[in-house]
Amino acid sequence: MNHFELQGGELHCEDVALARIASEVGTPVYVYSSATLQRHFTVLRDALTSAGLKDPLIAFAVKANSNVAVLRTLAAVGAGADVVSEGEIRRALAAGIPAKRIVFSGVGKTEAEVAYALEAGVAEINLESEPELHLVNAVASRMGKRAAVAIRVNPDVEAGGHAKISTGKAENKFGVSLAEAERLYANASNMAGVRPVGVACHIGSQITDLAPLEAAFTKMRRLVERLRGEGLSIERLDLGGGLGAPYFNAPTPPAPADYAAMIARTMTGLSDIQFAFEPGRMIAANAGVLVARVLHVNARPEGRKFLVLDAAMNDLLRPAMYDAFHDIRPVTPRAGEPVTYDVVGPICETGDTFTRDRTLPPLQAGDLIAFMTAGAYGAAMSSEYNSRPLVPEVLVKGERYAVVRPRPSYDDMLAREAAAPWL
Ligand code: LLP
Repeated sequence: MNHFELQGGELHCEDVALARIASEVGTPVYVYSSATLQRHFTVLRDALTSAGLKDPLIAFAVKANSNVAVLRTLAAVGAGADVVSEGEIRRALAAGIPAKRIVFSGVGKTEAEVAYALEAGVAEINLESEPELHLVNAVASRMGKRAAVAIRVNPDVEAGGHAKISTGKAENKFGVSLAEAERLYANASNMAGVRPVGVACHIGSQITDLAPLEAAFTKMRRLVERLRGEGLSIERLDLGGGLGAPYFNAPTPPAPADYAAMIARTMTGLSDIQFAFEPGRMIAANAGVLVARVLHVNARPEGRKFLVLDAAMNDLLRPAMYDAFHDIRPVTPRAGEPVTYDVVGPICETGDTFTRDRTLPPLQAGDLIAFMTAGAYGAAMSSEYNSRPLVPEVLVKGERYAVVRPRPSYDDMLAREAAAPWL
């Protein structure tokens, strides 16, 4: 459920007309709904707690949407943060997320990033490999600290979905095998600079079937039991993120209640453990849209109709990168026979195609459209390719809106560069 509905024939975000934002801020522009962000977070938390998982740590995956105002909106309802860089730790802290709710993941943390995370006092560093265990042990020992760490396990499960976002197969770069995890956990418990507190896994993104998650979680549960059997202490089990969002013409993702029930079933009896989660997409995707204007309709005499937008692949990369399809809705739908369009941006490569052969209500130059389900991995993956200024972001709350990342001017864009002394 989201808060993007027609009111008086106009698509709104909560109580603000998207057309008003488009005319005041310009297009393309991302628009987020505070109510939807908070609702998705609380629906997940309520599902987990009603299934009997006490006090779960729900660490929003900052990579999905790293805007500080979005993070602050989630922090207000109790979200933690799953971060993968010093930049993301800084964003989470700037949003008021307490360090004790921050989990630091990622396969290539630098020494400086580890030191920063330890200084900040993050809840847990998820270790992805043996060299990383030694790195964190060395940095923490030097700082006179003992780092709380979890070992990220690669459970060797096929999550389905797009290969570029699948992480849980043995051939992927993430985590260590179950057997290695046992060895590293035991080693870590004898090191002065680290304190192993748990194990973690994350098998992929846009998962729409509970079966691979259940298979992975069952392996994790057995691992916890084996480690405890060896006398090692485990306080936390981090089950990652990965639940899908409803994209155009795509399988419906599982309901949070079914996900929670599956976890409760798989983990029966493990009541003395804190469960952690790293959801990104399921919280942010449906809480945001990308609003764009139709520049023109290029109707070829041979038949194809190109809807040329002022948004491009630099603003929303997912279709070009993952063959993803976002639902497209006219902001002010016109009556008339539906028309089949190829929807494209102005960038000079064929990959700058949002979709082909999409049947939509009739559109004309100047009309506005909204790419739905664009709140996750949308603005966060945007760039200035083709020297197009970074797309702005707007946050709506009820009848109000705020520009939470303004569009840079061309002067701002050029001012970031410096001349080489010999030029
Ligand atoms: N935890 C870890 C360790 C991750 O690597 C990820 C996502 C998440 C949590 C959050 O996953 P989610 O709940 O959002 O599925 N850019 C791609 C998605 C990349 C996901 C990378 N890792 C896309 O636009 O589809």
